[in-house]
Amino acid sequence: MLPPKIQEKRLPKSKLSRLAHLGAMASGVVGNMLVEGGKQWAQGKRPSLQDLLLTPSNASRFADHLANMRGAAMKVGQLLSMDAGELMPEELSIILSRLRSQGKSMPLSQLVKQLEKNWGRDWQSQFSYFNWQPIAAASIGQVHQATTKEGHSLAIKIQYIGINTSIDSDVDNLASLLNLSKLIPQSVNLAPLLQEAKRQLHCETDYCHEAQCLEKYQACLGDDLRFLIPKVHSNWSTQSILAMDFVQANPIESCVNEPQAKRDSIMSALFELLFREIFQFKLVQTDPNFANYLYQSHTGKVVLLDFGATRAYNDAISQGYYQLIRGAIAQNKEEVEAAAHQIGFFSEQIEPQQKKALLALFEQACEPMRSSQAYDFGTSDLAANIKDKSLALSMELNYWHTPPADALFFHRKLGGLYLLAAKLKARVNVRAIFDQVSQTLPSSVSCL
Ligand SMILES: Nc1ncnc2c1ncn2[C@@H]1O[C@H](COP(=O)(O)OP(=O)(O)O)[C@@H](O)[C@H]1O
Ligand SMILES: [Mg+2]
Repeated sequence: MLPPKIQEKRLPKSKLSRLAHLGAMASGVVGNMLVEGGKQWAQGKRPSLQDLLLTPSNASRFADHLANMRGAAMKVGQLLSMDAGELMPEELSIILSRLRSQGKSMPLSQLVKQLEKNWGRDWQSQFSYFNWQPIAAASIGQVHQATTKEGHSLAIKIQYIGINTSIDSDVDNLASLLNLSKLIPQSVNLAPLLQEAKRQLHCETDYCHEAQCLEKYQACLGDDLRFLIPKVHSNWSTQSILAMDFVQANPIESCVNEPQAKRDSIMSALFELLFREIFQFKLVQTDPNFANYLYQSHTGKVVLLDFGATRAYNDAISQGYYQLIRGAIAQNKEEVEAAAHQIGFFSEQIEPQQKKALLALFEQACEPMRSSQAYDFGTSDLAANIKDKSLALSMELNYWHTPPADALFFHRKLGGLYLLAAKLKARVNVRAIFDQVSQTLPSSVSCL
């Protein structure tokens, strides 16, 4: 079980080296722009700054340098590309989605240091097996598999050393880069979103908090045999290490080969869970990244992972969304508008035309709920339509007020499920599921 000698790429740890990375990137991109711009001038073209930034080589330079920052930068990339991605130019989404897939592993010496710091020097005597090769990359850590002497097979999420001290500066640096790149419309006020990213990241570096969220969520879910949430092993868990049952399962995308009825029932279960999360539990796992769902073919269960970004919703927002969906189903524009107000939209100044477009967007997003039959996600171009409408809103109508964070995270979750349903080509009667969950709500909500 001795650690093998592997040479991994060092994580840039000191503040200075992080800044040096950013500096190199910025000057690299700017230098490249000048060369590229020079070439185009010579050909008699008048390229815009944005065109120059978005040449393929500059775009990949941008992504490569951010990948060196890894950790927090990667997480911010995830947040922006999943949430606001729809409202951003395609190029930025591509860059940021590349970031998500670029996890590298921690140098072995740092891994050993982290394990000894958290578990003591003698920890190996309690394990019969420890795989030094990570089995998966996590956003601010990596996941290893091990077996204790008692025979428990564990998945162990180990946080990168020093990640919690660099969050604020990494997020700030990333923000400067985004501004520099001019990839985000001028009217966007990124500040509240970045603030939220910092807050959430700090929260996510405390794996004890994640363990608590997982257990709270499991308690809300109760005994639902369609789902499996790995049990936390608290004796091996600390702020920087989260030890859970290792779950043998396949990526959720592998379900695409299951019969139609199975795919439909998986997605029905996930939509039911979403409605229960927002209306009943008032606790939403807001990261619908496909990697957070696994499928266990031998039991037919969906495995739910990653409770770091679990968010509590207050009654006003929860009821606001109930009203919004109910209003959209009934095609009652006043109700949808009142619900959007209650959720916290329209707090900033908004032109009537923008308001109309935003309400139309909500209506579009509720299309699956309006259909009284099973909605065929495989043949619908819902995701593309929502994206087109959002882009038109932000680019043509110049509406880019930062939505309330609660809304952002809920929309992200809903959008993630739509994408998954489309991927699995599922047919789901979302309306019937909404009605069924409605009946379980206290009459103070369902009779609003
Ligand atoms: N209990 C587990 N059993 C098996 N694999 C796991 C388990 N927990 C995490 N993983 C693997 O590790 C990956 C990253 O874990 P996750 O908790 O999602 O980290 P992050 O919060 O950084 O996204 C998952 O996508 C999955 O592949
Ligand atoms: Mg995850």
